[in-house]
Amino acid sequence: MSLEPIIIVHGGAWAIPDSLADGSVRGVQVAAKAGYDVLRIGRSAVDAVEVAIMSMEDDPVFDAGVGSVLNADGEVEMDAVIMNGSNLKSGAVACVQNIKNPISLARAVMEKTDHTLIVGKGANRFAQEVGAVVLPTDQLVTKTARKEWEELMKFRTTVTTLFSQRYPPTDHVNQGHDTVGVVALDTQGNIAFGTSTGGITAKRPGRVGDSPIIGAGGYADNMTGGVSTTGHGESIAKVCLASHINHLMERGMDPQTASETALSFMAVRVQGSGGVVVLNNCGNPGKYFTTERMAWAWIKDDILHYGLNPGEDFSENVH
Ligand code: GLY
Repeated sequence: MSLEPIIIVHGGAWAIPDSLADGSVRGVQVAAKAGYDVLRIGRSAVDAVEVAIMSMEDDPVFDAGVGSVLNADGEVEMDAVIMNGSNLKSGAVACVQNIKNPISLARAVMEKTDHTLIVGKGANRFAQEVGAVVLPTDQLVTKTARKEWEELMKFRTTVTTLFSQRYPPTDHVNQGHDTVGVVALDTQGNIAFGTSTGGITAKRPGRVGDSPIIGAGGYADNMTGGVSTTGHGESIAKVCLASHINHLMERGMDPQTASETALSFMAVRVQGSGGVVVLNNCGNPGKYFTTERMAWAWIKDDILHYGLNPGEDFSENVH
């Protein structure tokens, strides 16, 4: 039996400035359409997730792939994860450098190794083995990312000690987070999710947030549904945000209520903010964010839905 496919995408939950607003909305629309085209020709949810995430990794407006933010040393360290809800296989990379599409490397971990997560030098060595496309740091870093880093580091040096000048503690109130993420349901009823990020500006080198951690940065299980998360990684990891939502859906909650319930819990329990996109295994979507803005888009039955500000929900035909 062939099901109606659906894909839902986010471009990160944070205080998106007006200068990036249109680009963020356009970017999630393009990514959702790219993934939906893959689903419509009968290809898998995993393929659609990879294609949609690659589209956002290649778009400099997002903090993933090209456009990733800089760590305290002025370097780029990226994290990505993908999961196949039909067999619960997953693959992830963390602290990986100079890789154009970390999501494809995460997929290679899932499909070509016995592991679920490979980090740092080992991940870059694995990238060489599988022939991942490499980019020099200056081609991954945008002017916006460099400026944000310079401003943050200047501010830090006036208020912190010598050690924390170099490795400042993260301050999730003042920093942007704009991880990208996708959940897809294919015509065979299989669900997959992917999440990819450059993390947070001026993070301590070696810091890994929630994104590549299964149950935090996302989850996918054909028995229930799929989730991709964004926002303050340390908060998301503490409450296992994706897993929390999945459990709520397992108990019969619809995706929208589960999203709102879990993010409200995170706000109260650990004072963390973020956003999520969710699908249940019947193909119903949910999305919610507790930050100022989150660019999101979903497509089903050839209708594209999208928004950026709280309460927004625009729709149009994709053909
Ligand atoms: N949610 C992305 C990060 O904190 O790294």
